[in-house]
Amino acid sequence: MISNFMYETPTTLVFGEGVIKELPNVLKKYGKNVLLTYGGGSIKKIGLYDEVYKLLKDFNIVELNGIEPNPKYDPSVINGAKLCKEYNIDVVLAVGGGSVLDCSKAIAACAKYDGEGWDLISGKVETKDALPLVDILTLAATGSEFDCGSVISYTAINDKRAYASPFIFPKVSFLDPRYTFSVSKWQTACGTADAMNHILESYFAKYDSILNNGMMMAGLKSLMHNVKIALEKPDDYDARAELMYTCTLACNGIFANGTGPSGWPMHSIEHALSAYFDITHGAGLAIITPRWMKEILSEKTLGKFVLLGKELFDIEVKNLKDAEKVIDAFYKFFESLGIPMHLKETGVDASKIDEMADHILEYDSTYGPHMYVNLDKAALVRILKESM
Ligand code: NZQ
Ligand code: ZN
Repeated sequence: MISNFMYETPTTLVFGEGVIKELPNVLKKYGKNVLLTYGGGSIKKIGLYDEVYKLLKDFNIVELNGIEPNPKYDPSVINGAKLCKEYNIDVVLAVGGGSVLDCSKAIAACAKYDGEGWDLISGKVETKDALPLVDILTLAATGSEFDCGSVISYTAINDKRAYASPFIFPKVSFLDPRYTFSVSKWQTACGTADAMNHILESYFAKYDSILNNGMMMAGLKSLMHNVKIALEKPDDYDARAELMYTCTLACNGIFANGTGPSGWPMHSIEHALSAYFDITHGAGLAIITPRWMKEILSEKTLGKFVLLGKELFDIEVKNLKDAEKVIDAFYKFFESLGIPMHLKETGVDASKIDEMADHILEYDSTYGPHMYVNLDKAALVRILKESM
């Protein structure tokens, strides 16, 4: 069955080798004053920073650099919004991975707001406007280039929030797979695990259809096949291109439209892990995935494992024992990508499990009609303990 849904993506995707030559034409629609945002310097190493400056010789560029993985409200969003106001910025140009894009989305909204920006991000105040945002993606993972989400951490209060507003959809996203050749094995593996999880979060939902299931299985197969090639041969254009496009689609809603309540429980758990211990998002998800699957496995959910087993691992699932084999196959797949499959290996301290479970229930809520399977505090604690 396909349940009712409403869907809109106003973002233009410009995909392929050499596409950023269109950047000046795109930006000039918005104005001359550009805030260029980027991270710790990877864009300089791959020559993209110089390429952007060459293309934008007729624009006034102000820079915000040093945006952190798991981007921080303080200082990055605060400083970026301040620069926008001070220099009368017309458009934000984000160049980097999901963290740079997410941070830039929050900056674009906070630049148009005079109060405390965290009120927008935490949902206390409704977002009513944002500066236009254009991006050049350098890491295939989050799908931030094609969605209206932004995940921002506020270290002082151990909080990591998924913020969403139609105003922060990128206007245009440039996707040139060559810029991802330099992505490390670790980030390639974690980015793929993140995108796989986006599909799984949508798959474990109340409804399904031949169409939804088909798109999701194709997405998972594409990621699982191409990541192996990219890890082996980082400059394989075709593999990087397919990874990039699949990651872009995986979080945008296209695969999930009509599947009804899911709740994205693994992301709720991971956001607490990153907020407390600043771990890499995709690694946290890969570790949680098999433990969450074991927690929710029952006669009610068994049907969901049949297709996963058949399509991804050639496992015929007839009973709960067979489904456990599928769960083990996911564990082994993530392990084969080089992801350590225990949270303690990523620096997570077990003494915070109880506090994190309370935090998840309070801020992300894994209980209620929006969930495919409810997780109460005891369930969250079990998943986290099993993941250690
Ligand atoms: O900072 P630089 O120097 O650019 O280095 C980055 C960073 O260290 C590096 N990198 C990026 N492109 C590279 C590169 N290194 C070499 N070559 C390149 N071409 O990779 C490191 C990680 O970058 P980051 O942007 O943090 O990774 P990712 O794209 O996985 O983003 C993760 C963030 O996105 C959020 C996560 O929670 C996390 O904060 N998410 C955003 C979502 C969304 N907006 O819809 C959904 C996701 O579920 C996720 O929560
Ligand atoms: Zn994610």
